[in-house]
Amino acid sequence: MKLVILGATGGTGLELVRQALERGHSVMALVRSPDRLKPFRDRITIKQGDLLNRADLEQALKGHDAVLSGFGPRVPISKADANLLQRFADALTEAMVLAGVRRVVVESVAFLFKNSILPPAYLLGRLLFPRTVADASAMERIIAQSKLDWTMVRPPELTDKPYTGNYRVREGHLPRFGFSISRADVADFMLNTVENRASIGKVIGVSN
Ligand SMILES: NC(=O)c1ccc[n+]([C@@H]2O[C@H](COP(=O)([O-])OP(=O)(O)OC[C@H]3O[C@@H](n4cnc5c(N)ncnc54)[C@H](OP(=O)(O)O)[C@@H]3O)[C@@H](O)[C@H]2O)c1
Repeated sequence: MKLVILGATGGTGLELVRQALERGHSVMALVRSPDRLKPFRDRITIKQGDLLNRADLEQALKGHDAVLSGFGPRVPISKADANLLQRFADALTEAMVLAGVRRVVVESVAFLFKNSILPPAYLLGRLLFPRTVADASAMERIIAQSKLDWTMVRPPELTDKPYTGNYRVREGHLPRFGFSISRADVADFMLNTVENRASIGKVIGVSN
């Protein structure tokens, strides 16, 4: 597929780029800091631009099949980034419609699973990271209300452990005792998902 990867310079994003190439996809990355993609520069198309700008996104997206997003605020989250995901979702949904690209797989956060008891994801999120919960909720709402073919992937704590391929997936729920997952495994699942039309309109919990 002709994929656009957003947040491509981040932890999950770099795994998405690496694994997408391994699978034989063609990859375009729209980034603010192209230097971080140096190891891939001969094998992918890199464009510099503003990921919160509809026109930059629209131009980058044209002619592609799908978008994978590992975009999110750098930690610790600055005040300026308090509603970053919401602004990103506004720009992305409009740009996708204008560019005629419908399929999008978005990495969100397990804190949004209100029904999770072990771990109590929503409660922990509300107590410890209320602004992240609010911002990720706004992002999901905007994308879910669009007419796009979306899938939300909600992981718990992300780690930099290696790929295992041995992770659990639950539609509409966080897998029980799902405390963490490696970015490499999240990327693997997102790449499986982008080609799986049965996952359109679904919110999926993943964990190791
Ligand atoms: N940390 C966790 O434990 C955890 C748990 C569950 C879900 N999540 C969510 O999962 C997603 C991926 O997390 P991650 O830790 O793999 O990502 P990350 O390493 O923090 O990378 C974030 C990516 O977003 C980009 N970005 C951030 N602000 C930007 C801006 N204003 N303009 C352009 N690009 C910008 C970064 O670009 P630069 O390289 O230019 O900074 C980077 O490519 C995020 O949405 C995060 O909220 C995180």
